[in-house]
Amino acid sequence: GIKCCINPSILSADFVNLQAELARISNADAVHVDVMDNHFVPNLTIGLPVVERIAQVSPVPLDAHLMIAEVDRWAPLYADAGLDSVTFHVEASNAPIKLARELRARGAKAGMALRPATAVEPYLDMLPELDMLLIMTVEPGFGGQAFLDITLPKIRRARAAIEGSGVNVALQVDGGITEETITRAAEAGANIFVAGSAVYGKPSPQEAIESLRAKGQL
Ligand code: DX5
Ligand code: ZN
Repeated sequence: GIKCCINPSILSADFVNLQAELARISNADAVHVDVMDNHFVPNLTIGLPVVERIAQVSPVPLDAHLMIAEVDRWAPLYADAGLDSVTFHVEASNAPIKLARELRARGAKAGMALRPATAVEPYLDMLPELDMLLIMTVEPGFGGQAFLDITLPKIRRARAAIEGSGVNVALQVDGGITEETITRAAEAGANIFVAGSAVYGKPSPQEAIESLRAKGQL
C-alpha cells in the first residue's frame, strides 16, 4: 500500500521543553507544528521566530499547519524559514493557486488544508499544484477533540480524485487520530496521520508512533 506517515503534533507537548520533546519523537516521519493566531481559530500558539528555531533543532522534517488569517502574506515567510512543508487553510487564502506556487518556488512542499465543513470538490483541479492535502477531522483550534466520522466520505472522495488524476499528493488527516480511529481514516484513503494527544499523552511517544504506524499502514 501507500506509505503511512505519523506526524506528531507538538501542540500536546511541553512548550517549555521543546527540544527535549522533539527528541522523544525522533522515530516520527515529521513533526507537525500548529500555528494559531486567535483570528482564524479561537486559540493562540506560537509564531515564526519559534517555528524557525524548532526547524533548526528538529531531528525530523518540520510540517507547519498554519491556522492563521492573512495567510497569503505569512505562509511564504514560513517557507523561507527552511521548513520541509507549509500547509495553509484554503478558507484563509484569497489566492490559493498563487500561494501554492509561491511555497514551492521558495523550496517548501505546498500543503492545503480544509476545515471539516469545507467541500473538496471545488479544489480538485488544484491537486497538481499541491504536495499534500490536509482534511481536518476536527474543527481546528484545540487538541484532544473527538474524530469527526462525518469527514470520512470526503477523505474517500479526495483519495479517489488523487488516484484518478495520477498526481503524487499525500492525503493527511489531523484531529482525533487514535489507535481506534486511525484504521477508519486509513481505510478511507488517508496516508499521513497527525496525532497530538495519542502520541504525547502516552508514557512512551516512540512506542505510540510505532503502534499507530502499524495500524495506519494498509
Ligand atoms: C487542532 C490541531 C491538531 C491537534 C491535534 O487544531 O490542528 O494538530 O494538535 O490534536 P489531537 O491529535 O489531540 O486531536
Ligand atoms: Zn494541526
